[in-house]
Amino acid sequence: MNIVLLGAPGAGKGTQAAKLVEEFGTPHISTGDMLRAAVKAGTPLGKKAKSYMDAGDLVPDEVIIGLVTERLQEPDTARGFILDGFPRTSAQAVALDAELGKLERPLDAALLVDVDFEVIIGRLTSRRMCRDCGHIGSAADAVCPKCSGEMYQRDDDNETTVRNRLDVYEKSTAPLIDYYRGCDLLVSIDGDRDVDVVYADVKKALGL
Ligand code: AP5
Ligand code: MG
Repeated sequence: MNIVLLGAPGAGKGTQAAKLVEEFGTPHISTGDMLRAAVKAGTPLGKKAKSYMDAGDLVPDEVIIGLVTERLQEPDTARGFILDGFPRTSAQAVALDAELGKLERPLDAALLVDVDFEVIIGRLTSRRMCRDCGHIGSAADAVCPKCSGEMYQRDDDNETTVRNRLDVYEKSTAPLIDYYRGCDLLVSIDGDRDVDVVYADVKKALGL
């Protein structure tokens, strides 16, 4: 499967990607996770990205396109890939098409996980992540349910930043829904249901 996960911040892209990875072992390429790892490691990329991420703004296209282009050239992506959080602008979508054309690995689908913004604000302000294994959980998890690691709150999961992320999504990323519809690649599912119900629909929509 060569897929793009589309959807607003907090729609459940990472949650559904983790389930696909667990069942199918497909490489998961999350630009948000890659950037957070770079920030944590204090690399030049991380230093450049941090202020954009903390404000809930997009990291410049040229930075992110280079990062994904390099990642797609790694041999494991011959087994397929799940792009999560990329593309997020028209320029990124066009660059992705060009790269996948070169690699002769066209997209099979762009899957939109659709959730109302008011639901999302509640989800993101109560999200917690595991420092050790990256598990995505909530404030109800005192420790990670998977590995007992420490749960933390992402720096961009406060209400002011979440609202800006939603504005940025609406302005820069939502137009990609029409872009992929025009390419006949768009599949859409209702992401405001139990995680496992959503996952069953994800697989059905992808023909898995
Ligand atoms: P990124 O990490 O991609 O964040 P995002 O798009 O804002 O999306 P999230 O990770 O917040 O949400 P998600 O959809 O993965 O939801 P999750 O499964 O965690 O990007 C962060 C930043 O990096 C950006 O703001 C930007 O600065 C930069 N960046 C990244 N990519 C970039 C790019 N391509 N270009 C430029 N800049 C880029 O779920 C959320 C919560 O809801 C969790 O608590 C979860 O447990 C819960 N939940 C999930 N599903 C359900 C369900 N069905 N029912 C109830 N709760 C649920
Ligand atoms: Mg995510």
